[in-house]
Amino acid sequence: MGGRSSQMALVARLNPGETLGDRVIKVDHAGEHGAVCIYLAQMWFARWRAPEMLPELDRFLAHERGHRARFADELMRRGQRRCRSYVFCGLGGFVLGAITGLAGRNAIAATTVAIERVVLRHMGEQVEELTPTDERAVSALHQIIVEEQEHHDASVAHLNPRGFWPTIINPVVGAATHSVIWLGMRL
Ligand SMILES: [Fe+2]
Ligand SMILES: [Fe+2]
Repeated sequence: MGGRSSQMALVARLNPGETLGDRVIKVDHAGEHGAVCIYLAQMWFARWRAPEMLPELDRFLAHERGHRARFADELMRRGQRRCRSYVFCGLGGFVLGAITGLAGRNAIAATTVAIERVVLRHMGEQVEELTPTDERAVSALHQIIVEEQEHHDASVAHLNPRGFWPTIINPVVGAATHSVIWLGMRL
């Protein structure tokens, strides 16, 4: 995350009366809802497939609920509605969480690593872009980034990158995460 570069400028198709910060908060709010749903579904299957991961998943879930609430408050304050992708993110999150939870420990860790890698990159760009214009959005992002980084690092620590699942999950889930953010900014 270097200096401000035009190459990294956020592209969005804004609705009337909507600022770039509003749109970023909407898209991230929907993404946090997706994250909540992933961890809920993973925890159902982890009870059976990877019970040793439950305390950590529960902690991540609590963080994601906090992120979603933080962005929801910010949307309310701005008089903005949730993103059109919100329900889709939740459903997609459940499906992804169920599949990877069923696949077990390494798939669960690989999912968090793949998502956070993309999310951290996007949130870094959002901070850079919004710093001059939207102090409140930036301060929400700064707080949340600390925990997303923690999820990433903790999951890297118990990932076996040479296993079967990371080789599939890393590119597929990374690309899906990027696409959801990309579409959310433009639809
Ligand atoms: Fe989050
Ligand atoms: Fe996270």
